[in-house]
Amino acid sequence: MAKITKANSVGEWFDQRLNTTALNKVMMTEYWIPKDINFLWAMGVVLAVTFKILVISGIFLLMYYKPDVNLAFDSVNYTIMQEVAYGWLFRHMHGVAASVIFLIIYIHMFTGIYYGSYKKGREMIWISGMLLFMTFSAEGFSGYMLPWGQMSYWAAMVITNLFGGIPVIGDALVIWIRGDFNVADATLTRFFMLHVFLLPLAIMGLIGLHFYTLRIPHVNTQTSEELDFDAEAEKYLSGNKKSAKVIPFWPVFLSKDFAVLSIFLIFYFYLVFFHFNFAMDPVNFDPADNMVTPAHIYPEWYFLWSYEVLRGFYFDILGIKAFDLGLMAFGVANGIFLAIPFLDRDPDILPAYKRPRFNIWFWILLVDLIVLTVFGKLPPEGINSQIGFVAAVAFLVIFAALPFVTRADAKARGAV
Ligand code: HEM
Repeated sequence: MAKITKANSVGEWFDQRLNTTALNKVMMTEYWIPKDINFLWAMGVVLAVTFKILVISGIFLLMYYKPDVNLAFDSVNYTIMQEVAYGWLFRHMHGVAASVIFLIIYIHMFTGIYYGSYKKGREMIWISGMLLFMTFSAEGFSGYMLPWGQMSYWAAMVITNLFGGIPVIGDALVIWIRGDFNVADATLTRFFMLHVFLLPLAIMGLIGLHFYTLRIPHVNTQTSEELDFDAEAEKYLSGNKKSAKVIPFWPVFLSKDFAVLSIFLIFYFYLVFFHFNFAMDPVNFDPADNMVTPAHIYPEWYFLWSYEVLRGFYFDILGIKAFDLGLMAFGVANGIFLAIPFLDRDPDILPAYKRPRFNIWFWILLVDLIVLTVFGKLPPEGINSQIGFVAAVAFLVIFAALPFVTRADAKARGAV
């Protein structure tokens, strides 16, 4: 083992550590990362760190929060925000991280879709990722209820009501979920338990599963080239670093991840200190009141697209009630991303720019989701409802078209 002497350059410093530390002896033989990836591949680590920020800031909030309908609002808005030293900081860190983590999750998901990273041996990475997305959605929803403001209460009312649309068991299910006939104290305490205990535990387990599923197929690359990791690693170790197509996970790859992470953290803390309001709905600064319904009820921005799919069906079609149509479409919207690896019928892993029809499909999907998000926040009146309807139908059509679009690309390439 080489002896560490004073390094003359950063490169030499890395080389020394690469060749000497015990950690590297493990890391280098085990973990190699393709070289041909960009900053989008750092989003996973950004997510892991943002989740840690949520856990730590949440633990501080937990010391003063009171899960009781008579105390919850004041414990957040007076005790934490005004009386506890730096309580405001932890609340803003928690609220901003909760919002930003969804932005990063969406970027991470759409990177996966663009580069076809859910295919051929990577299905389990995708499925564990989607399970994380669903659990995070439940975590976001349950957390939004805790300050017990007007939007907390009414969003909980609307969302729990949806389960009433399930045939036969619907009405009983709503009462079971709420623990009461209405959204009430029992609802708050059980969502509190879910938010601070069961869901974070599930998320930690799922992150473990997500990382485990990544181990064998390795991450995808920008060109989706199949790599012989052993041969490339040999090349790297024998000094051919430039021509090798892999880099060691530690410290080379992680140093790149940390660079992206640092930029993210600057952006994040800028939001925490100067623009925290974007993550707080003004209506939620009024205490929950079951006698006063807010003029417009809407969820957090990251649920708006699926909320608009639900709301888009605002008239009965062929004798089927608008509510039932919306509910079915909402069910599809929440499950369909899970099915992407099976709906994509192109046998090759390729980035979207090498699959012309899929590329168009990808950008149409993205635009449709943005339209749904924008109109999900607007009051459902006049032209808004009509655009919402078209965008909701388009969402379903886009996914129904995926098998045909991907098959057509494969045919044109002669792959099938
Ligand atoms: C807290 C949530 C999550 C964490 C901490 C996380 C973490 C990671 C990490 C560290 C990687 C490897 C590096 C990278 O490509 O970024 C990764 C890859 C991946 N993740 Fe996630 N992820 C999360 C959520 C998701 C979600 C919601 C999806 C979408 C369904 C997803 C799908 C994928 C896919 C397909 C890959 C493989 C990328 C490739 O092969 O290039 N992940 N994830």
